[in-house]
Amino acid sequence: VPVAILISGRGSNMRALIEACARPDYPAEIVLVLSNRPDAPGLQVAEEAGLKTLVIDHKPFGTDREAHEREIDAALQASGAMLVVLAGYMRVLTPWLVNAWEDRMLNIHPSLLPAFPGLHTHEAALKAGAKEHGCTVHLVTSGVDEGPILGQASVPVLETDTPETLAARVLEQEHLLYPDVLEMICDVFAK
Ligand code: GRF
Repeated sequence: VPVAILISGRGSNMRALIEACARPDYPAEIVLVLSNRPDAPGLQVAEEAGLKTLVIDHKPFGTDREAHEREIDAALQASGAMLVVLAGYMRVLTPWLVNAWEDRMLNIHPSLLPAFPGLHTHEAALKAGAKEHGCTVHLVTSGVDEGPILGQASVPVLETDTPETLAARVLEQEHLLYPDVLEMICDVFAK
């Protein structure tokens, strides 16, 4: 199943997906890695893996988010992708792009949704005194971090945790969860 990945930064989840796709029995193939940031470190990781990369900077579009997304959509269509995977893509999408990829766009969020949507989830979990935290892969809908949940992984919160130590524990699970959920969705698609 041809898949496009959207990133804005480090790209460690993307790297986990690249590694999964290298397995001969894995049902997804990455046809495009697209970043809205020219300086996203993940772009180099993708290039080193021999993947096709593309930058569509949002800045020249100013406040016209849809115009930016129309260009993204054109690139996604041209790539032949059947699924779009958001992996640290840090822009909120308009309903236009969300609807264009309805039921075919996945996101990973660093909390056990519906708890702690939005940013700074690890800080929020610590502040709330959560005993458990984790990550969620969900379908993207227009409500931010609100789409149907496809999979979750949890980790314990330790008394000694800082946002950083907790984030690292969650990230490890993200790197396992995302390839697993994508595999499951691709198997559904391939049927
Ligand atoms: C991850 O924590 C992910 O859950 C969130 O943004 C972060 C991206 O990290 N959506 P990376 O770019 O995949 O390393």
